[in-house]
Amino acid sequence: MATVAASLTLRSKSPAQTRRIGARLGRLLQAGDILLLSGELGSGKTCLVQGIGRGLAVSDPVTSKSFVLLGEYRGRLTLYHGDLYRLEDPLEVEELALTECCADGALVVEWADRAWEVFPPEHLLVRLEIGGASERDLTLAAHGERYERLLAAIAGGRRRRS
Ligand SMILES: Nc1ncnc2c1ncn2[C@@H]1O[C@H](COP(=O)(O)OP(=O)(O)OP(=O)(O)O)[C@@H](O)[C@H]1O
Ligand SMILES: [Mg+2]
Repeated sequence: MATVAASLTLRSKSPAQTRRIGARLGRLLQAGDILLLSGELGSGKTCLVQGIGRGLAVSDPVTSKSFVLLGEYRGRLTLYHGDLYRLEDPLEVEELALTECCADGALVVEWADRAWEVFPPEHLLVRLEIGGASERDLTLAAHGERYERLLAAIAGGRRRRS
């Protein structure tokens, strides 16, 4: 994995706020972007992806189907929503050639830690931690220049709003 050059922790106090963070991210995404999500059950990964869908102007509801490895949603860019919870062998993901298939859109993967090794070293890593009943800490870490720029744009947007 590339060295982590920058990271940003955002505190969310409600599912709606997590969706807003996702929407802000979604508006900034470009074709080929890869977001790898990790965090325990119920930490808000799907909630964040729903917001990303909103930011990408996806009209179909983004749902959590843990028996499907990859969901596909049409929007400003195609949102490819992976969920590796039920993955038994990282080879299954390797065979899907996720990165190549998803190059025309944005790939966002829940439980990416089940198969770190199959993803490219350049990506945005999002770790979600449960702080309380309705509190979540989202730590965004940039791996690679593209993601440093993305992170800077998110941090900049935040400053303008506060
Ligand atoms: N600040 C918050 N942000 C996101 N979800 C929250 C927050 N506070 C409470 N929640 C609740 O936590 C749960 C998050 O569920 P979600 O399906 O998004 O988690 P997940 O990480 O995708 O879980 P899984 O590992 O099962 O896929 C929901 O029930 C939501 O209402
Ligand atoms: Mg989920």
